[in-house]
Order: sequence, then C-alpha cells, then structure tokens
Amino acid sequence: MLCKKLTANNFRNIEHAEVSFSPGVNLLVGDNAQGKTNLLEAIGYISLGKSFRGATEAEMIAFGHDSASISLDFSDSLRDQNISVGIFSGKRRKFEQNGVKIFKMSDIVGAVRAVIFCPEHLSLIKSGPAERRSWLDMALCQSRPVYLQSLSRLNKLLKQRNRLLKDAENDRKTFDATVGVWSEGIAHESALIGKFRYDYVREAGKHIERFFSEMTGGSEKPSVTFAGSAKQEEEAFSDIEATEKEYLRLLTSNTEREIAAGSTLWGAHKDDIKIDLNGRSARDFSSQGQQRSLALAMKLAEGELCRRDIGEYPVFLLDDVLSELDAKRKAYLVNEIKGKQVIMTGCDLSVKAENTVFVKNGCYSTVAD
Ligand SMILES: Nc1ncnc2c1ncn2[C@@H]1O[C@H](COP(=O)(O)OP(=O)(O)OP(=O)(O)O)[C@@H](O)[C@H]1O
Ligand SMILES: [Mg+2]
Repeated sequence: MLCKKLTANNFRNIEHAEVSFSPGVNLLVGDNAQGKTNLLEAIGYISLGKSFRGATEAEMIAFGHDSASISLDFSDSLRDQNISVGIFSGKRRKFEQNGVKIFKMSDIVGAVRAVIFCPEHLSLIKSGPAERRSWLDMALCQSRPVYLQSLSRLNKLLKQRNRLLKDAENDRKTFDATVGVWSEGIAHESALIGKFRYDYVREAGKHIERFFSEMTGGSEKPSVTFAGSAKQEEEAFSDIEATEKEYLRLLTSNTEREIAAGSTLWGAHKDDIKIDLNGRSARDFSSQGQQRSLALAMKLAEGELCRRDIGEYPVFLLDDVLSELDAKRKAYLVNEIKGKQVIMTGCDLSVKAENTVFVKNGCYSTVAD
C-alpha cells in the first residue's frame, strides 16, 4: 500500500493543495497551527471514513465554505487507484472509488490501509476501555468489512434499547413486549464483534510482547488479552454461539438493574483489553515509560497484523509522536518504520526523511518546488 498524491480543497485551512508522497519517510514540517495535522486528517478520512480526531464533517469544511473535497491517489499490490470524497454542509457526503460512486462505507474503508498514531495514543494503557476498544475498531474496521457492519448495527440497536430502558418506568408494557428483539440483536452482534476482537488481540499480543521486550531490553513480560463484557473465559469468545447465549442470558436476567441504570450494561460496547506486566495490571502498576513502550508496541503490532492480512505494510500516519518520545524509544520507532511508508508531522528537521514537505498556512511545498 502506497499513498501517492493527496489533493484537498477547502478542507480545514487548506484552500487548495496537491501533495505528492515518497514511498519512504515523508516529513511534514512547520510551525504550530499551519496545517500539518489537517493533511494527515484528510488522508485518515479516506482510510477510515471518518476523522481520527473525532471531528464532524461540518468542522472539516473550511470556514466560510459549504463543501470540501479530498482525493487520494494510491496503489496496492495490484494497481493504481483513487478514492475521492465530497463533503457538504447539510447534504450527504459522496465517496467515489476509481470514479465509481460508493454507497456502502464498508466497501471502501480499509482500501487505504493506515496505522494512525497520535500523542493521545501514548496513554492507551492508562486511558479507559473506550480508547482501547477504539484501537481495536480502527484496525478491525479496516481489515474486516463485516466487522464495521456489525459495529454500526450494534450502535443502532443500543440506541433503541437504551431508549426503551429509559422509558420503561412510564411504559412498562411496551418495554416488556419489545425489549427481547433488541436484546437478541445486541447479543448476536456482540458475540460476532467479540470473536473478531478476541482473535485480533491474541495475534497482536505476540507482536506486542516482542516489540516491548526489544524496546525495553528488560525482563518484564507483557500479557495482552481480550476481556469481553460477557464474563466468561477468554477462549470462550471464539465460540460465537456460546457467547451469544451468554449475552442473551445477561440481557434478560438483569432487567431491573438495567432499567435503573437507563442503559444496556452488557455487550461489545463494554469490552476491554487486559494488559499486564509480569502478571500485574499495567494500568495500575506500570511506570509512564512502560506504558508508552506498551502503547508504541500496540501500534507497531497493528502494522504487522495488516501485513499478515494483505501481504503489505500499511501507511503509517504519525502525528506529532516523535516529540513525545524519549531518545531511546524515538530511535526504536525510527528504526522500526524504516523501509515502510510513513507520513509524519514534526516541528523540526531532526528526522531523516526521503521527502520533506514544508507547511505554512495551509500551503505545502517541497524543497524541489
Ligand atoms: N474548518 C476549518 N476551516 C479553516 N481553518 C481551520 C478549520 N479547522 C481548523 N482550522 C485551522 O487549521 C489550522 C491548522 O491546524 P492543524 O491542526 O493542522 O495545525 P498543525 O500544523 O498540526 O499544528 P500543531 O503543530 O500545533 O499540531 C489551525 O489554525 C486551525 O484554526
Ligand atoms: Mg498538529
């Protein structure tokens, strides 16, 4: 997977830009607030179908305009391709792949495979379960279209069921008559999602262990395991039917508790990843440095699993990560990403790059320009 050229119009502070990338390290360099992250966000939008900063479409359209567009030329092992998107205020966005209109996001998410890494990810270990789930979601949505479909079905089902739970006190009859359908749906999707997550974490765990020990040279051994919201043995998540049954049991036998909470208490939206160092919870007992090494190892593992899936490394989009790492980890990361395509931002020229792009006020220029 190689990103070749990005064209953006009226996207954030970019009025118009065409930026070409080298297959190696591309460094976007410039002062604060010039448009470095904006450019990564545009590439990320093509890859994920959403902003990795969690921005809405309206926020990404340049101030004073009512539409934006992004177009990315890239190549995979088979051919040169293009994905473009038009974003409009008050209208549906419009994606095209090689000039053909795309109706289902799951058809293109992951066509451009990217590992996205920003400073917030360095606190993946210390953060709450939602951030760790989002690490899984970013990777799995790109690699498994059915996962993305399950996840969006789950979110719709949860909305409906939570609404019912909130209204249950006023209208118990409707609740009793209809909750079963939503519970079944949530149990089904959660079991599917749980199986994907379980498999992914099991595979990623091996790489994380290796990266972590290389980075720290220490004797501590990390263990990364899936902690699904159905309280069963981790391995049981590989049995979708059994997990579905367990979820359904939980969702039918705790009605009063869920009504009191006004929300669904079991399902894939409550999954987590258990990260230990030498048998102790990394979240509670590890040092800042150990947490950073673990998070970095998790991101690098993402790249390895992508290569396992598609036979090629993804593009690494690194936003401001190097400035957050100490010299040892920085050297490790730089060495690990050598030979892969990297598009990264920085405030100085301390990293050796094949292509340096200077960013000023939404304009991008390379030395040769
Ligand atoms: N919708 C928008 N329209 C116009 N400008 C915007 C929009 N959204 C954000 N901006 C502006 O884009 C500018 C650049 O943002 P960006 O996050 O890319 O900076 P950066 O170069 O990554 O800076 P830093 O080094 O601080 O991370 C900011 O000044 C911001 O105000
Ligand atoms: Mg930035």
